[in-house]
Amino acid sequence: MKIIGVAASPRENKSTRFLLEQCLDAVKSTGEASERHIEVELIDLAPLKFQGCIACDACKKGVLCSQQDDFQSLIPKFADPELVGIIMATPVYMGCMTSRAKAFIDRTVLYRRNGFMLKNKLGGVIAVGGSRNGGQELTVQAVHAAMMIHDMIIVGDGDHFGGAGWANHPDGYEADTTGIASARNLGVRMGEVATTLRG
Ligand SMILES: Cc1cc2nc3c(=O)[nH]c(=O)nc-3n(C[C@H](O)[C@H](O)[C@H](O)COP(=O)(O)O)c2cc1C
Repeated sequence: MKIIGVAASPRENKSTRFLLEQCLDAVKSTGEASERHIEVELIDLAPLKFQGCIACDACKKGVLCSQQDDFQSLIPKFADPELVGIIMATPVYMGCMTSRAKAFIDRTVLYRRNGFMLKNKLGGVIAVGGSRNGGQELTVQAVHAAMMIHDMIIVGDGDHFGGAGWANHPDGYEADTTGIASARNLGVRMGEVATTLRG
């Protein structure tokens, strides 16, 4: 089993990636971790160059994309039969996900058009805002909506919607214990649900 985390900030190694790392660490290190056999991979979109879907419809002819950019290297990763879940982590920009997150999500339409390849995969979401209440919940739910378009199974943090981080915590984002706990709890739930459904 494999869970992929996708960091959708234009900035590498900042608060979004930090919380995603916390979440993936929790997938591996909580409860029956040794029995779970869940592999995790973090994909950081920051250094990758790609744009959104251009609606050329090439993917109606197969699991392919006409745009020859860095998204090409990601295509086989999400077609891996070992994949059980995806965790998207995005900053909050203007009350919702980043354009990078949306561009990535739109490009994943090729999986939907080829037999709903992400159907029944687990989906979890983390949003990080500069403000404590800057749109994290709406952003998480906006990504959930896209996951439902794929017929994925939405997983929360066991309490609320998912991870909700505060990048501008007065003591730095590493001190945002509430946000870190929400991201780690999401990881725990992803691991639990993956194990329950897939053994
Ligand atoms: C264009 C832009 C729009 C933003 N809009 C919001 C917002 O609506 N709400 C909020 O809480 N923070 C907002 N922020 C702050 C980012 O969410 C915050 O800096 C976040 O931590 C960035 O993630 P990173 O540290 O991984 O880059 C915005 C930042 C930028 C650059």
